[in-house]
Order: sequence, then structure tokens, then C-alpha cells
Amino acid sequence: MRIALGSDHAGFLLKEYVRGYLAGQGHDVVDVGTYNEESCDYPDFGAAVGRLVASSDVDKGVVVCGSGLGISIAANKVAGVRAVQVMDPEMAEMARRHNDANVVGLAGRYIGIARAESILDVFLATEFEGGRHQRRVDKITALESERQ
Ligand code: RB5
Repeated sequence: MRIALGSDHAGFLLKEYVRGYLAGQGHDVVDVGTYNEESCDYPDFGAAVGRLVASSDVDKGVVVCGSGLGISIAANKVAGVRAVQVMDPEMAEMARRHNDANVVGLAGRYIGIARAESILDVFLATEFEGGRHQRRVDKITALESERQ
């Protein structure tokens, strides 16, 4: 799978770990930065990952900031992105099965590498169920036309 990966400074260390973990599993990882722990703005990296997902240059996105929240919000501003911040593999599974989430947000300051691995394993392996959930996801997508 081709995966875009981005973080701010607070997510940098976990992003670095995640890049190696995903590459070790044979994924093609596109790292959009940040590339060090200097303070920076998470919207820049959430947007960069979101744009790669929305344009189908990649299959999925992974974003990391301190809480995983702000960078997920930023990614969600890109049309076509469904980014979710998740703290455990159960929510990662639901985000894929019911919401067809295409970006996962990780909390660099709140989860360790074992939790990140389990979230990513489930997020990347779980298929969208479709059916009645497709109708609901379509309604989410339709909301994008309300934007100016
Ligand atoms: C940076 O201090 C922090 O605000 C950021 O990483 C993130 O947690 C925002 O949602």
C-alpha cells in the first residue's frame, strides 16, 4: 500500500517510528515532514497528507501531532478526506468498517509505539463494509458542496 505520513514537531518522534514500521511491512511511505523537532504548524502537514489522499496519489494517510486532533481536523478540510483520530485498535476498526476513514490520526504525546502499531495494523487491514454505511458516507461527502 502507498501511504502518506506527516506530523508536526510534537508528533515527529512517533512519525519517525511509524515510517520505519510501515516500510518494514513493505508499504511505500511518502513522508511529507516535518523532518525535525523544531516547532511548526500541524495544519501544514495535515493538509499535505490530505491532498495526497484526495488526489489518490496514495491509498491512505497517517498524521501525527501531540494529540492527533489538530492535524486530523486540518486533513479533514481537504475535500475527499475522512480523517479520524483514534486511541485504540477498536476505534480504528470501526473507522474503517463504518466510516471508510482514509486518514488516521495518532497522538504522539499520549500513545506509545505498541499502541500505534496495533492501531495501524487494524486500520490498514480492515475493509469498509459498504451497504448502509455507503449511504451515510455519501452524505458526509455531499456536505463538501456546502463549502465556499
Ligand atoms: C503542539 O503543541 C500541539 O498543539 C499539537 O501537536 C497538537 O496536539 C494539536 O492538536
